Amino acid sequence: MPFRHRYTGLIERYRDRLPIADDTRIISLGEGNTPLIRLNNLPTVLDCDVDLYVKFEGLNPTGSFKDRGMTMAVTDAVNKGSRALICASTGNTSASAAAYAARAGIAAFVLIPDGKIAQGKLAQARIHGATVIQIKGNFDAGMRLVREVGEVAPVSIVNSINPYRLQGQKTAAFEIIEELGSAPDYHCLPVGNAGNITAHWIGYCECAGVGDATLTEACAFCGGQCRFAQALVQKRPRMLGYQATGSAPFLRGEPVSEPDTVATAIRIGDPQSWAAAQAARQESDGWFAEVSDDEILAAQRTLAETEGIFCEPASAASVAGAMRDVRNGRIALGSRVVCTLTGHGLKDPDVAIAQAERPVLDVPPEKEAVRRAILDNLPS
Ligand code: F0G
Repeated sequence: MPFRHRYTGLIERYRDRLPIADDTRIISLGEGNTPLIRLNNLPTVLDCDVDLYVKFEGLNPTGSFKDRGMTMAVTDAVNKGSRALICASTGNTSASAAAYAARAGIAAFVLIPDGKIAQGKLAQARIHGATVIQIKGNFDAGMRLVREVGEVAPVSIVNSINPYRLQGQKTAAFEIIEELGSAPDYHCLPVGNAGNITAHWIGYCECAGVGDATLTEACAFCGGQCRFAQALVQKRPRMLGYQATGSAPFLRGEPVSEPDTVATAIRIGDPQSWAAAQAARQESDGWFAEVSDDEILAAQRTLAETEGIFCEPASAASVAGAMRDVRNGRIALGSRVVCTLTGHGLKDPDVAIAQAERPVLDVPPEKEAVRRAILDNLPS
């Protein structure tokens, strides 16, 4: 018997809202359909009345939101006859490109900043068989090279300057609206190259503008005809983009030449989607703000310790920003807030281990020693 409800990826799911022809061969690893988790404990920690959710994009096939865009970009590249992909990356794009290239049976070339990507991401690019090209330079230098090489070598660029990437990534907004019944009041994202905040805004705007399917789902009583349903669907969130203090070109108002942060995924000084991200902020009446590395790491730890959710440092920037802006009242009390957790914590074990507060206990392999260790460490 066929599996009638087998989920087969976001292109199949949202085909009618994506630029995909009917006869296209789809390259998918079952990406999308990630959980929107309501935080039960963090609002108590904050002592604030806020309806807080995280969209855990770390549960995509390669552990980051990049897979949403990559299924689209690689599907397009393969159908145009491309035999090789190229990208510059702080790690996640390279992991995703490598995996989808392997799935498609084509080659991947990934440019990474020497020594500045998390081990898990490097492991992914390598095990999937990508050619890893390491440069003595940061992501921005790699991005410039990729643009130049794309003109003179037989490769498809799969960075988010490829419009298919944003088309895939916009589907995260569709999923959120479907689950909540309307857009949240605020949507918080970490911002690096600024593709993802742009893609989310595209998704929300599409739902607000057309969205017949969503209308029907929004109001169970009238099938989307009443004014209540219209208002629900036309609602769009205020887009909040958070950057790490050492890599915050949107806060400086210009590119940053030597970006630096513990959140290596967003160690980017010259975002490619600058204008589009500014438009998203402006049109949505949102804001950009910066969070320090200490705030990022504290948020990562709090989420892990109080909610059981392990995201990578860059992802925690959205929660760090939301926590601060809830506390200082910039995010209105009683609001519904969604934070995107862009990547899984397992990507970057070194940072997690370095900041773990509880020591690993060395004990002899004896019952009494283990009993002692338990009694000494039970919560009071
Ligand atoms: N969070 C994570 C975990 C990322 O890997 C990235 C970007 C971002 C946030 C920022 O998203 O660039 O759309 O604003 N990583 C890219 C990469 C640059 O190469 O993996 P953005």
